[in-house]
Amino acid sequence: MKTYYITTPAYYTSGEFHIGNAYPSLICDAMARYKRMQGFDVMFLTGTDEHGQKVQIAAQEAGLSPKQFVDGLVDNAKDLWTLLGISYDKFVRTTDDYHEKTVQAIFQILYDQGDIYKGVYEGWYCTPCESFWSDSQLDNSTCPDCKRSVARSTEENYFFRMSKYTQRLIDHIEANPDFIQPASRRNEMLNNFLKPGLEDLCVSRTAFDWGVKVPFDPAHVIYVWIDALPNYISGLGFFNEQEDNTRYWPADVHLVGKEIVRFHTLIWPATLMALGLPLPKQVYGHGWWTAEGQKMSKSFGNVVYPRMYTEKYGVDALRYFLLREIPAGQDGDFSHRRFVERYNGDLANDLGNLLSRTVAMTVKYLGGKVAGQVDPEIAEFIKEINIAYCSQMDAFNIPAAMVEVWRLIGRMNKYIDETQPWILGKDESKKDELAVVLASLCEALCVVGSRIEPFMPKTSKKIFEQIELVAFGNTSPIKFIVRPGEALFPRIDVATDMSPLGVIASVGDIVPDVPRATEDSPEITIDDFAKIDLRVAEVLVCEPVKKSDRLLRLELDMGNGERRQVVSGIAAYYQPDEVVGKRVIVVKNLKAVKLRGVESQGMILCAEEGDKVKLVEAPASIPPGGEVR
Ligand code: MSP
Repeated sequence: MKTYYITTPAYYTSGEFHIGNAYPSLICDAMARYKRMQGFDVMFLTGTDEHGQKVQIAAQEAGLSPKQFVDGLVDNAKDLWTLLGISYDKFVRTTDDYHEKTVQAIFQILYDQGDIYKGVYEGWYCTPCESFWSDSQLDNSTCPDCKRSVARSTEENYFFRMSKYTQRLIDHIEANPDFIQPASRRNEMLNNFLKPGLEDLCVSRTAFDWGVKVPFDPAHVIYVWIDALPNYISGLGFFNEQEDNTRYWPADVHLVGKEIVRFHTLIWPATLMALGLPLPKQVYGHGWWTAEGQKMSKSFGNVVYPRMYTEKYGVDALRYFLLREIPAGQDGDFSHRRFVERYNGDLANDLGNLLSRTVAMTVKYLGGKVAGQVDPEIAEFIKEINIAYCSQMDAFNIPAAMVEVWRLIGRMNKYIDETQPWILGKDESKKDELAVVLASLCEALCVVGSRIEPFMPKTSKKIFEQIELVAFGNTSPIKFIVRPGEALFPRIDVATDMSPLGVIASVGDIVPDVPRATEDSPEITIDDFAKIDLRVAEVLVCEPVKKSDRLLRLELDMGNGERRQVVSGIAAYYQPDEVVGKRVIVVKNLKAVKLRGVESQGMILCAEEGDKVKLVEAPASIPPGGEVR
């Protein structure tokens, strides 16, 4: 059986885990579940990085020994992974005996072969980062990583001869374009770090003792990265007596935050080269979450902890949002408004309604037993979706794979509108047609149920509890048995729902919940369209809305001397002065709403361009007030 080995970073045991820490574990979990379904022999490893001065100090402050301190945090982390359904196979703690044994063995091998040597270090030390810096590396006399002050330090230390591996690393990265992904991170490593040449790395510390001791010089502890990175092989039984899982090496993917790609693509491969072990096939740098437009930080009071959302909206809703909201490899923002939009739109409306409508009609018209053949057009569409889904998952693009599943959901909702089973159900002569429609819906929902398992395992199970696939092919006339069950995602009432963080201040701040158009939006008639009064308007004034990163307030010349104000969520895409003077298109007869306390008397039309949003503009020759038809 083909193996698949995927790892999360080893998380620092410095505090309670927030959504940013949950993120890499969720991505790895989704990939591990997908690969298991594809028949791979999967090893999914996660763990904690528990040594270092920061932990020692935090433990002292808490009146605990470092081990007691980290034990509590590791218990919390494991509970959280269980809650979130993280299906890891191995959890490595850097304080585990077998891990320490591996780290010491590596240090000894490298020392014996001359890759580690003792030298004197003179430079600048940053305590929070536990890093030494040279004069040229400092950023305005501060630590280049955290921008905090540094102290002059002279120490006798052990060094890893990283410089020796510079050219081999360059050659490897250039010959293996997939090694560092996304590609932008690869160029950064090559141009900013490797091309100028690597310096030898200081790999021991004497300032504290909460760490793995240098085997032949116990006054030194081994520097955090040389301690933490080998977790990826200690967990497989390299250089220790753990169960021998070395067949999983090299890893298929190390998923790591963008800020630690450097350590994983320079220090770690150089260490592996020194050990004569193959390099991981890929290091994938994921992006960072902000919360409500700001860096998450305890001092801002905006840290989003997973439980805030799982308790109120369910684990799968949070898993869906975190995996779907930001494009693979990019940064993104956790905003409550977006969460509610996705929940009510993608989950309650699109998926939840598809299941509840299908189940209700199947029970009503067929007594819950479906025997028809699948509509060939739908069968073809499902085939297409399956291919696209797998190719996105294989390319490590989870959000794009999710889009494919939702394309199928959208198609099937439209199929219900097109085929109108409630009309077929009243006509005995249309019995066979009805059976085909309901069989197609059940079949599509089973595909959806299995394709979302990597993202939303509980929801997948709930779908199969309601639609049981009882026979494949032609072995039995009955293919599905359908039983009504609970609603998958009860709608969030936007009129009363508040953010668990309390960041969103009032009800009016939440954009009204309008079902979003998809490629497969239901048809409307010309009469429906005629109800919408679209007009050209000129933007006279544009300014930001207070306490909102998203909204701009526009004053519009509507023609015939009429002036109106509209609030629009385009602040991320336009500077206010770029908008003034534009001829935009306004939905004139839209009911007014208040957004962040500001009344919006209409809505301006925008179009999506990739991740961006652009104003739809009318030609300059059309005066304000001109009708758009
Ligand atoms: N201990 C090191 C990794 C050693 S790997 C051998 C470490 N730990 S960490 O706890 O600081 O980070 C663990 C992961 O959490 C990283 O992938 C990091 O990017 C991720 N996140 C922490 N905060 C985050 C956000 N706000 N958003 C997304 N992920 C971020 O680094």
